[in-house]
Amino acid sequence: MKALILSGGKGTRLRPLTYTGAKQLVPVANKPILWYGIEAIAAAGITDIGIIISPETGEEVKTKTGNGDRFGAKITYILQDKPAGLAHAVKIAHPFLENAPFLMYLGDNLVQSDLRLFVDRFKERNLDSLILLCTVPNPTAFGVAKIDEDGRVLELVEKPKVPPSNLALVGIYMFSNAVHNAIAKIQPSPRSELEITDAIQYLINQPNSKVEARQLEGWWLDTGKKDDLLEANRTILDACLNCTVLGEVDAQSQVIGRVQIGAGSKIINCTIRGPVTIGTDCHMENSFIGPYSSVADHVTLIDADLEHSVILQGAQVVGIHQRIVDSVIGQRAQLKVAPRRPKALRFMIGDDSQIELV
Ligand code: DAU
Repeated sequence: MKALILSGGKGTRLRPLTYTGAKQLVPVANKPILWYGIEAIAAAGITDIGIIISPETGEEVKTKTGNGDRFGAKITYILQDKPAGLAHAVKIAHPFLENAPFLMYLGDNLVQSDLRLFVDRFKERNLDSLILLCTVPNPTAFGVAKIDEDGRVLELVEKPKVPPSNLALVGIYMFSNAVHNAIAKIQPSPRSELEITDAIQYLINQPNSKVEARQLEGWWLDTGKKDDLLEANRTILDACLNCTVLGEVDAQSQVIGRVQIGAGSKIINCTIRGPVTIGTDCHMENSFIGPYSSVADHVTLIDADLEHSVILQGAQVVGIHQRIVDSVIGQRAQLKVAPRRPKALRFMIGDDSQIELV
């Protein structure tokens, strides 16, 4: 069995972060979202993995993720010249997939469940497709399934205005080679994409095809937007963080709970209340770093007060005595109080940034 991870697309919902990078590389608990998917796939015993990349961010994904050695897998990169839909991605990956059954994984999804359970079920039952469903409060944002009393899938609709249920399609699917014929039969949707939902619906409509749905237990997170990203960060820090302190913590600092501090980081007169992860070569001074914060490498925090936030590589937060909460601060961003007069707010804010002042 092979796997296909989709790491192309435009990432418009995570702007401005995605102006300068792939949304699948945005870190959750200091690890790129995409890597959680690769690890879960390798843990399920699938090591031949194709990754769909876009012309805009493909090189960055390739350079950062590599040939798969670090995951015990073999990675083949497949360039999709435009984000023409999830089924389009499968179509262009056909030469890599050949006629092997495969697991398809959307590179911005995170799940808690062990994928092996589903892979085994798919193989044992010799299915054409196994899809995963999860109840959500906002089904209009997803593909949605209508199922009968026995759990059989009757209908799938992509982003319906009036959802037939609250069961969303999780971004993890398993397919036999029958999906290639289904994709050849479907037409682009009103948003001009070849939808995988339509290809699965085509399979469901075939008299002898075997499509099954399983409901996910554990959590599932689609990290498409800022609040989803913060939620993913909170969930992962809660579930997976172990304490390793490699950096230097001075005697005036207090480290409470599960806290990770990377090599070369200096913590001076700070209180860090976990779960918190701090990358390498950071400088933290006179600051409070509160629960559910992830701070990437080379970050400077001086006279800062932070909680439930994600700070990306190289950012600097200096002299902000008001508590920063529920925030995502991009790479190399600078948030400072200047000593200059008159006392005033001075900004240089990138496109699509969001700032809330009280
Ligand atoms: O997250 C689950 C949802 O994912 C499902 O419920 C929907 O049925 C499914 O269509 C999908 O919806 P999204 O709107 O969230 O898909 P998005 O455009 O965000 O793309 C998902 C991933 O696939 C993302 O990592 C980008 C990548 N992608 C997307 C497209 C359209 C590609 O690699 N190529 C593409 O052409």
